Amino acid sequence: MNRLKTLTLAVATAALVVTSLSAQARDFRLGLITPPEHLWSQQAEAFAADLHERSEGTHSVTVYPAQELGNEAQMVRELRLGELDMAFLTVAEVSNWIFDFGAFYAPYLVDDIDHAARLLRSETAAELLELMPVGADLVGLGYGMAGMRQVLSRQPIESVDDLQGLRVRITPFEANYDFYTAMGADPEPMPLPEVYGALAAEQVDAIDMDFDSILTLGFHELADNLLISNHMMFPMVGVVSRQVWRDLDEADRELIRTTMAEHLDKVVTGFQQMHADQEAEIRELGVNITEADAAFFGEAIEQWERTWSRQVPKIEVLREEAERLRE
Ligand code: BEZ
Repeated sequence: MNRLKTLTLAVATAALVVTSLSAQARDFRLGLITPPEHLWSQQAEAFAADLHERSEGTHSVTVYPAQELGNEAQMVRELRLGELDMAFLTVAEVSNWIFDFGAFYAPYLVDDIDHAARLLRSETAAELLELMPVGADLVGLGYGMAGMRQVLSRQPIESVDDLQGLRVRITPFEANYDFYTAMGADPEPMPLPEVYGALAAEQVDAIDMDFDSILTLGFHELADNLLISNHMMFPMVGVVSRQVWRDLDEADRELIRTTMAEHLDKVVTGFQQMHADQEAEIRELGVNITEADAAFFGEAIEQWERTWSRQVPKIEVLREEAERLRE
């Protein structure tokens, strides 16, 4: 081959490599509802940095926190159409599309935060993710969490009777709506970024919330009575749009799967590590505390179980796994 031909071939080959690399290069968009300082948002940024580095600069991820791309219901609609690439979603939102995920919210399914973490890391929880492509056009890559649920209120809640008629802010999902309705409360579904304003304007009397959000978003400044009930776990799931996933090659899928799963697990570990210290911090703030267990909620739990066990057989499966993981 003469020199000119060799050179032409080399240039053509180089152009082909560049074209195929740039064809695969992606700037993914990842949406979530938590503010930038929240652990979910921090780990989303860390995932973006790692994916960029591990793909040797081929892929980048732009993170949109604080509901910049809309609330979770809007984000799921965009993910389903392939207009949004990725998200960290509350499992609460996923349960609005796939009822089986409501099983995670069986009251007192787990004893404490470490038990919740073991359940989220179990095979049984991983198997539930397999329902997502068909059920919601999403590919679930792993679980994170946001601690355990408590009730912060403007007036003390000393018995379940104090919840009668109380306007309680809840995360928008049916399992939680049914729990508060069973207690005679008046649940107000409301996404996290809207809660501060609603509490400040006294549109709600109480909020269903976790220790971390109470402290980082300053809800204790507006309501200073806390029912420490740990009544539900609060899982999160990292997802990729099924449409986007279809267009990725196996190597990219594996890279995204392992990198995202690693950062989701760091969220779980982070919440495990923060739980006790955040509870102590809240107690030291002088908040009026009442402690509650399953008995505190009286008939409400049985009523919830009757409705939900009928429609969601996965509750039994998850409960058996939780039982095996009890220490
Ligand atoms: C909530 O809806 O209460 C919530 C959502 C995401 C993170 C933490 C709390």
